[in-house]
Amino acid sequence: MRHTKVKDLLNSTTTLHEVNAKGWVRTFRNNQFIALNDGSTIDNIQCVVDFENTPDETLKRITTGAAISVTGTLVESKGAGQKFEIQVAKLEILGDSDAEKFPIQPKNKPSLDFLRENAHLRVRTNMFGAIMRVRSVLSYAVHSYFQEKGFVYVNTPIITGSDAEGAGEMFKVTALPFDGTPRTEDGKVNYKEDFFGKETNLTVSGQLEGETFAMALGQIYTFGPTFRAENSNTSRHLAEFWMIEPEVAFNDLNDNMDLAEDFIQYVIKYTLDKCPEDLKFLETRLLDEEKSKPVAERSEMALLDKLNFVLENNFKRVSYTEAIDILRECTPNKKKKFNYIINEWGADLQSEHERYLVEKHFKCPVILFDYPANIKAFYMRLNEDGKTVRAMDILFPGIGEIVGGSQREERFDVLVEKMKALGIDEEELWWYLDTRRFGSAVHSGFGLGFERLVLFVTGMTNIRDVIPFPRTPMNAEF
Ligand code: 4AD
Ligand code: MG
Repeated sequence: MRHTKVKDLLNSTTTLHEVNAKGWVRTFRNNQFIALNDGSTIDNIQCVVDFENTPDETLKRITTGAAISVTGTLVESKGAGQKFEIQVAKLEILGDSDAEKFPIQPKNKPSLDFLRENAHLRVRTNMFGAIMRVRSVLSYAVHSYFQEKGFVYVNTPIITGSDAEGAGEMFKVTALPFDGTPRTEDGKVNYKEDFFGKETNLTVSGQLEGETFAMALGQIYTFGPTFRAENSNTSRHLAEFWMIEPEVAFNDLNDNMDLAEDFIQYVIKYTLDKCPEDLKFLETRLLDEEKSKPVAERSEMALLDKLNFVLENNFKRVSYTEAIDILRECTPNKKKKFNYIINEWGADLQSEHERYLVEKHFKCPVILFDYPANIKAFYMRLNEDGKTVRAMDILFPGIGEIVGGSQREERFDVLVEKMKALGIDEEELWWYLDTRRFGSAVHSGFGLGFERLVLFVTGMTNIRDVIPFPRTPMNAEF
């Protein structure tokens, strides 16, 4: 008999038929009630064991974490909290779990730190089950949005020879020495010229390659892993994260903002529709967590209200210059508001400023645009004022920057000039410059950090908790 998913059993329309379920034991009470979870949904199915007719030896092996198979009758449950349960006729232990050693004991309420150290098992908790299902649905929503609009999905390379962001935060790629590995005169491996004959690194962004495809296919998007060797050990940074990067020919900065806003609202709406139980569970978890915080630090809105708020309200569009004026005015206060005080036009915003604008000043998502050229990447379109570029960052409550994008510099001469000024090797990027040599046109795109989106949607606060196996400085255990 084929087993049925717990989710389908709980949504059953008929009872009193024989079913089989397979999953992992969450708890076993009074030698009688098993809470069985198979990952298909947040809810467990209760399996009622006929303990009088079950050998002691078997009962002892029904422990938290064990994999079991139960066959029995699906009946309406008399207990509170669940509609159906299984009256077990046959129980098989598929895989034992030593109750003393199994690290995830529901009754101990393991801390998030402890769970991070057990990333391979934390997914067996309700919280991480819900997060990972929401993450999966969100990534499907990303594809659904772009595919419906006719964007072409492009797999840009993971190993590249360029530094798209010019920030020098790259992981170098080298091959283990093999027979043909170039060596220096004293016989040592010449890593500079090994496998690829040039220095290569893990990509920080698929944008540059994406641009070349947009200049042929019109509308494209990438969705893949990106890598940054930033030494910032914060709750918003990973060394390996997933990025979504659409790029559209003939779009200007305003079109780019429209696209980003519409896209974010679509994927959130999609997830609200598809994951109501998981999101409800995560909302309750967050409310519980917040109870331990001082009232002033608690979020003013519950998770689902916050998600609906983003759907129902336009993002506030504010220029960098306006934002700086706001931040300057609020800084010289009796109480020091910021650790880093912004005095001058041209200073880069720190996350404390971004969060102030979103959470305290505008109280809604904000799109900041027209940044000073010298704090942004080389490829951004210079404005007519000669000092700002057509860049945009989208800032979200609780997160800070969630999107970074721009209209691209389409003018060959201006771009080359900029690269020279920044010491970026024209020869290295000859292929990129070809987009400006042959049929250049206005085009724009952005990058959305997928984990930051998952943070927002799940209400989690540490980015390490929304990716299966986080990579951060000094941490690549799994
Ligand atoms: O602002 P960034 O650096 O922009 C780019 O890489 C552009 N090439 C994108 C484009 O225009 N196609 O990164 C984009 C987004 C950020 O807004 C942030 O959400 C996320 O990527 N991000 C990170 N997420 C997690 N950990 C990190 N270390 C991140 N660095 C950036
Ligand atoms: Mg950025």
